[in-house]
Amino acid sequence: MKNFKDKVIYQIYPKSFNDTNHDGIGDLNGVTEKLDYLKKLGVDMLWLTPFFVSPQNDNGYDVANYYEIDPIYGTLDDLQRLIKEAKKREIGLMFDMVFNHTSTHHEWFKKAMAGDPYYKDFYFFKKGQNHQPPTNWESKFGGNAWEYVEAFDEYYLHLYDVTQADLNWENPNVVKEMTRILNYWLEMGITGFRFDVINVISKESFEDDFEGVGKRFYTDCKKVNDYLRELNEHSFGRCDDTITVGEMSATTIKNCVRYSKPENHELDMTFNFHHLKVDYLNKEKWTLMPFDFMELKQLFNDWQIGMQEGGGWNALFWCCHDQPRIVSRFGNDKEYHRESAKMLATALHMMRGTPYIYQGEELGMTNAYFTDLKQYRDIESINHFHILKNKGLKDEEIYAILQSKSRDNARTPMQWDNTLNAGFSDQPPWMEVNPNYLHINAAAALQDNDSIFYHYAKLIQLRKQYPVIQEGLYEPLLEDSKQVFAYLRRLESETLLVINNFYAKEVTIHLDDIEGYQLLLSNYPSQSLKKELTLRPYESCVYYRK
Ligand code: GLC
Ligand code: CA
Repeated sequence: MKNFKDKVIYQIYPKSFNDTNHDGIGDLNGVTEKLDYLKKLGVDMLWLTPFFVSPQNDNGYDVANYYEIDPIYGTLDDLQRLIKEAKKREIGLMFDMVFNHTSTHHEWFKKAMAGDPYYKDFYFFKKGQNHQPPTNWESKFGGNAWEYVEAFDEYYLHLYDVTQADLNWENPNVVKEMTRILNYWLEMGITGFRFDVINVISKESFEDDFEGVGKRFYTDCKKVNDYLRELNEHSFGRCDDTITVGEMSATTIKNCVRYSKPENHELDMTFNFHHLKVDYLNKEKWTLMPFDFMELKQLFNDWQIGMQEGGGWNALFWCCHDQPRIVSRFGNDKEYHRESAKMLATALHMMRGTPYIYQGEELGMTNAYFTDLKQYRDIESINHFHILKNKGLKDEEIYAILQSKSRDNARTPMQWDNTLNAGFSDQPPWMEVNPNYLHINAAAALQDNDSIFYHYAKLIQLRKQYPVIQEGLYEPLLEDSKQVFAYLRRLESETLLVINNFYAKEVTIHLDDIEGYQLLLSNYPSQSLKKELTLRPYESCVYYRK
């Protein structure tokens, strides 16, 4: 029986983690070098974003060879050393499998473009309609999702960048190739897989979408479940100790239950992004809006209860390489930096599911606040700069949006210490370091008993110690409070009470049942539980009773 309920996973974006060969780009040896730091934090598994051979148009999410390591990140020897050293510390590795598309530099795509029918059928090549693309679907990175190929008078589909061609999973040879890749890495000692945008791999029908951007024709289609079951049966499902998680784009609770229910033999858990869209004006990412707290609470409550009732399992996260930094987003990265970073951590880690920490989150790393397009590296951000400009927005408005929404906010180099380039590299980094590294950095955090780092370490330790955190049922509390997100977790005679003030204002809450609780964790000097409890700015407390 596998157990991932007591585990915490740490996400590494290798390019920005730690550079050891002096080229300004993080590498695999850089991860190995920091294993003791990660062990100290207490995480069980490292999810590494893709480091396979790639032209790096989407920073490795455009894979040109799934079996080889891009030389910028190191060699196979480096990887094997990392696997071995991690294992010694009881840390597993989770690889990021980008199976919806390959880079157009992949040999399959090159053969397809040379007219080889076997490989053309690995992708979607379709005729247009009256000199227009086959459908009006939009690419997630902007523009139409089809690219014209003159030699065939056909278009190929790319839901993401034009150099990321969508794979045709209807073709059994594609499924076979994917299984082979998974087995290759399993044999090498990899015990986890994260599947990139896996719920869009099946395209149900190629129709124009007059209501949206095409999503409904390729999201959560029934065949995704078949494909996942097939992968599971022929690869990771054969090993007991693997952990799998699927990234689900624009999904639903019902579908995530299906993907993650153990008896369905698909995946262990799912990521969804609904809670990270509560600051989108009219559902549009490239806008500015204060986050809607009531909506956030509602979403957490719905997903917690829905997944619990359906027998599914959530991956819990605030941050990843695609999201702005949470302390800048739903917290306060100035006056209440420390308090709000800790509160957000507690609110998330005590819910039902498996928590993910994104590099630097444990230090309270903040958004980048770049002021010049030249500082940006991300293809999506750069494309949207131009899209917003064409819509007539002023430069300062566009920068304000990028400062709050760009994926590059998460991708600035990891802040290790207060030396040159934050200790990330002794060469100019591929992307600028956030100037606040002078006070926000790992070395300083490790020396301070009250740091955000030790708060995260404590949350991980509590999860291992208390079954109620791993398994307890979730029950919402104070649902009407406009400022406090609170809930209970219950397991047999144990109860956990979690209270989080999401704002810089004090607030008094009323609790009926306070008998017998002891305080487990807080981000302020402790206070005992009272019926009328006044919470300080961003205060969070966890109480426990047996
Ligand atoms: C996922 C990745 C993202 C990438 C996209 C296309 O959303 O997390 O970084 O750009 O898929 O592969
Ligand atoms: Ca390097």
